[in-house]
Amino acid sequence: MRTHHCNELRESHIGQAVTLIGWVNSARDQGGVIFIDLRDREGVTQCVFRTEVSNDAADLSHKLRVEDVVQISGRVEARLRSEEIDTTNDKLATGKIEVVADQLVVINKADVLPFQLDKELSNEDLRMKYRYLDLRRPRMTRNIRLRSKITSAARRFLNDAGYDEIETPILSNPTPEGARDFLVPARLNPGRFYALPQAPQQYKQLLMVAGIEKYFQIARCFRDEDLRADRQPEFTQIDIEASFVGQEDIIRLVEGLLQEMFQAGLGIEIPKSFERMTYQQAMDIYGSDKPDTRYDLKIIDLAQCFAQTEFKIFRSVLDQGGVVRAINAKSFASITTGQMNRLNEIAVQAGLPVKNLAFIKLENGEYKSPLWKIFTDEEKSAVVKAMNLEEGDIVFFAAGSRENVSTILGRVRTECAEMLQLTLNKNQWNFLWVVDFPLLAQDEESGNWVAVHHPFTRPHPDDLQKLASGDFANVRAVAYDVVLNGYELGGGSIRIHEKDLQAQMFSALGIDEHEQQIKFGHLLDAFRFGAPPHGGLALGLDRIAMLIAGEDSIREVIAFPKNNKGADLMASSPCHIEHKLLREVYISSTYKEAKQTVSSDS
Ligand code: AMO
Repeated sequence: MRTHHCNELRESHIGQAVTLIGWVNSARDQGGVIFIDLRDREGVTQCVFRTEVSNDAADLSHKLRVEDVVQISGRVEARLRSEEIDTTNDKLATGKIEVVADQLVVINKADVLPFQLDKELSNEDLRMKYRYLDLRRPRMTRNIRLRSKITSAARRFLNDAGYDEIETPILSNPTPEGARDFLVPARLNPGRFYALPQAPQQYKQLLMVAGIEKYFQIARCFRDEDLRADRQPEFTQIDIEASFVGQEDIIRLVEGLLQEMFQAGLGIEIPKSFERMTYQQAMDIYGSDKPDTRYDLKIIDLAQCFAQTEFKIFRSVLDQGGVVRAINAKSFASITTGQMNRLNEIAVQAGLPVKNLAFIKLENGEYKSPLWKIFTDEEKSAVVKAMNLEEGDIVFFAAGSRENVSTILGRVRTECAEMLQLTLNKNQWNFLWVVDFPLLAQDEESGNWVAVHHPFTRPHPDDLQKLASGDFANVRAVAYDVVLNGYELGGGSIRIHEKDLQAQMFSALGIDEHEQQIKFGHLLDAFRFGAPPHGGLALGLDRIAMLIAGEDSIREVIAFPKNNKGADLMASSPCHIEHKLLREVYISSTYKEAKQTVSSDS
């Protein structure tokens, strides 16, 4: 239907007869001459309709509206450029030429649009309801195509590295990855359910037992959890597993893979190898296991400054083995009351036991702080020195358990960075490996031990004794996360491949033998028959695409995402299901609203 796309014609094409097809991006009437900017996925070309060239086409062009689909034939001409008048457009790749139309075919008319496509629209619900229009906007078309490009690069890289692409079931059993499962009733097995995979974790390990050695999958994963800008209920992983490898092999592979993806997406070279930090360092210094290292705002330990303190709160915390720590938000003494309230709110949510964060600020040569009169002179000068507290700075304190203080100051740190606009540089890429994660963590509410990654993660060889003796808090895992600018891009580990060790891990998680057999019998069984040592990692493709595209939400790089209530407003999903269909899968809804909408047979 076309001879060229809308971003193809240049001065070298002048004189050629061409046919373009696409959408009317804009239509302007200049003294009876109609100018149409025609758009397709590649770009825009200006087309001109003059009565002296074709009366019919010119007549028809008067009736065109934005987003009509049209086919335009004509001759490529140079745009007028003289001393007096310059109609060329430097901003457009096709800006030196125009197509003087001699034929116009209106292929399909467009109704009045629910929103203008050439303006940013803040009403996300409206964008999602008409997602197919939203995606026509060049920024969105670019994002979706960019994603395709980096996905292809990943496939190419992994294929070249000898990895085979293998699909694993979508209808399967619950997989413990820390979220709720989406369930699907199994009609042929009344009363039973499939669970959609939170990740292909067990299948990829079973492929290693099956002798595949090198697996990858662009895998759709499903997790029923609270949604955020970087979380969707269905998302995509680049899922990788290999046999006969150690942590270093996986780290090197993933560094190479990310280099390839960033080269394909942005044409840039990222570091050949990434910085590394242990989990404990990340928590102590940045208060997060996925720190954004583009800015400093480091957490500093003040135990030395307050070793002799008689200030009751600090004294009792230190005596009980807790910590007193602080961050210096440089040049932020001018913080507004609103911002201060917000920080207090965040700190309380993160576990601050009192309503307000303790602070000291230095403004116009004067120290201002609710704590200032409590501290001794030695403590004051020690804090000023340790925190490098200078004119215009504000220091925030937290005292309590090591974990608690890290969480609070970590949240305060990221919020201060937002407020100080330290996160705006989208061209700085601080990749980081966080290693030596703890294997287990204690659930605050239930007191139960849970896997920090998942139950298949290998305990650190030096900590096996601690696992056996029940010193769970101090067992490290051979697990690693790759982090970029404060986002967890991916996580993985070397796995347990021995039946007994796997059973021991399940026991630590409070899963008794009976439950182990029911839930993971197939895996434990497989480990009886010569399972090779293996490990892997999964990257969040949506997050990588988001960062490469310079977006703040993964919704901007997913063709048809869900909103933050998990709904697709365009397709009206999730939807009510007729009583009859539910009955076929042996389900009766206990939800009232569902009853009101059941069909006539109810
Ligand atoms: P994990 O649970 O860390 O590991 O997931 C891997 C990566 O997937 C991305 N991710 C998400 N992206 C969008 N929306 C979500 N709801 C979401 N949840 C996770 C993140 C994350 O780093 N089976 C293990 C991997 C392994 O051990 O090999 C796993 O799934 O970028």
